[in-house]
Amino acid sequence: MTKTRKTQKILVSGATGTVGRQVVAELLARGHQVRALTRNAAGAVFPAGVEVVQGDLTEPESLVPALEGVTGLHLITFGGAYFGPLETGPRILESARAAGVRRVTVLHGGGPSPLEDAVRADDGVDWTVLMPVEFMANALEWAEPIATAREVREPFVSRLSAMVHEGDIGAVAAVALTEEGHGGEEYVITGPELLTVSDKVAAIAAATGREIGLVELTREQAVARWRAAGHPEEVIDFLLEAYGNTPEVGRTVVDTVEKVTGRPARTFAQWAAEHADAFAGATAGSGSSGR
Ligand SMILES: NC(=O)c1ccc[n+]([C@@H]2O[C@H](COP(=O)([O-])OP(=O)(O)OC[C@H]3O[C@@H](n4cnc5c(N)ncnc54)[C@H](OP(=O)(O)O)[C@@H]3O)[C@@H](O)[C@H]2O)c1
Repeated sequence: MTKTRKTQKILVSGATGTVGRQVVAELLARGHQVRALTRNAAGAVFPAGVEVVQGDLTEPESLVPALEGVTGLHLITFGGAYFGPLETGPRILESARAAGVRRVTVLHGGGPSPLEDAVRADDGVDWTVLMPVEFMANALEWAEPIATAREVREPFVSRLSAMVHEGDIGAVAAVALTEEGHGGEEYVITGPELLTVSDKVAAIAAATGREIGLVELTREQAVARWRAAGHPEEVIDFLLEAYGNTPEVGRTVVDTVEKVTGRPARTFAQWAAEHADAFAGATAGSGSSGR
C-alpha cells in the first residue's frame, strides 16, 4: 500500500460530535490540517490549530466555501435531531468534486441512508464507508447514575457487544481520508473483545475504584424509561432490536483497526481509565452517546 504522507487539509462534518471530535484529533495527530464544520461556529470549542467553519449539511450551498482547498471530506448521514436522514448527498458531493476533494469517508448510521447511497454511487472520489459497532462512549450514559447512586440499571445485561473506542473510529477515518488504498472499502470497526453489560460495569468499577451495582430492567421497564426520556417510538424500537437482539456484526470482533492503523484496537478497560473522572461526578468526558 502506497502511503501519502504530505500534509493535507480535511473538512470534518459532525466535528463537534462523539466520532467527529475523534476524527479531528486523529487527523491533527498525523500532522494534517483540519477544517471543522458546525452549525454553531461561535459556540464550538476545538483544539488549537483547527479552522472552524459555519455550515449546515441540509443546506449544501453553505458548504461551498468550507470545501475550498480540501482534499478529503468526512460525512455523517443525518442532519438534526434523532438522526433524520440527509437528502442532500448528491449536491454535497458535486461541490466536493468541484473543489478537488479526492477522498470521502461516511459514518454509517445503522441503516439505509440516501447520503450514503450517493457516496457509494460516486466514482469521482475514493470513498470509504465506516461501519462502527456500539461506541464505548455510550457508557457515559451511566456517568450520572454511577456518580450519584453507584448503580447501573439496564435491560439485556448478558448481551454481547464488540464495542469500539470512538478514538479508533477516528483513527480509521483519518487514515482513509489521507492515505491511498481505502477507496471502495466498507470497514466494520470493532473493539478487541466481546463484553457483556456486567463486564463493562466491572471495568468501570476497576477504573474508578468504586463498587457499582447492576440491576437488570425488564424490557417493559426499559421501554418506560426511554419513553420518559422523550425518545420517539422508532428510536425505542431501534434500541430494543440493537440491545435485545444484537445482530451478529455487533457481537463479532474484527481486526480492521489494526489492519488500517497498524496498532491494536483499544480495550474498554483503557476507555474506562481515560473516563474515570466522568463517573466520579466530574463533567462527562467525550460527549453524547447518540441515544
Ligand atoms: N452510538 C452508537 O453506539 C453508534 C454506533 C454505530 C453508529 N452510530 C451512528 O453514529 C452517528 C452519530 O455520531 P455521533 O455520536 O458522533 O454524533 P453526535 O455526537 O450525536 O453529534 C452529532 C453531530 O452532527 C452534527 N450535525 C447534526 N446535524 C447537522 C447538520 N444539519 N449540519 C451539519 N452538522 C450537523 C452536529 O454538529 P453541530 O451541532 O456542531 O452543527 C454534531 O457534530 C449516527 O449516525 C449513529 O447511527 C452510533
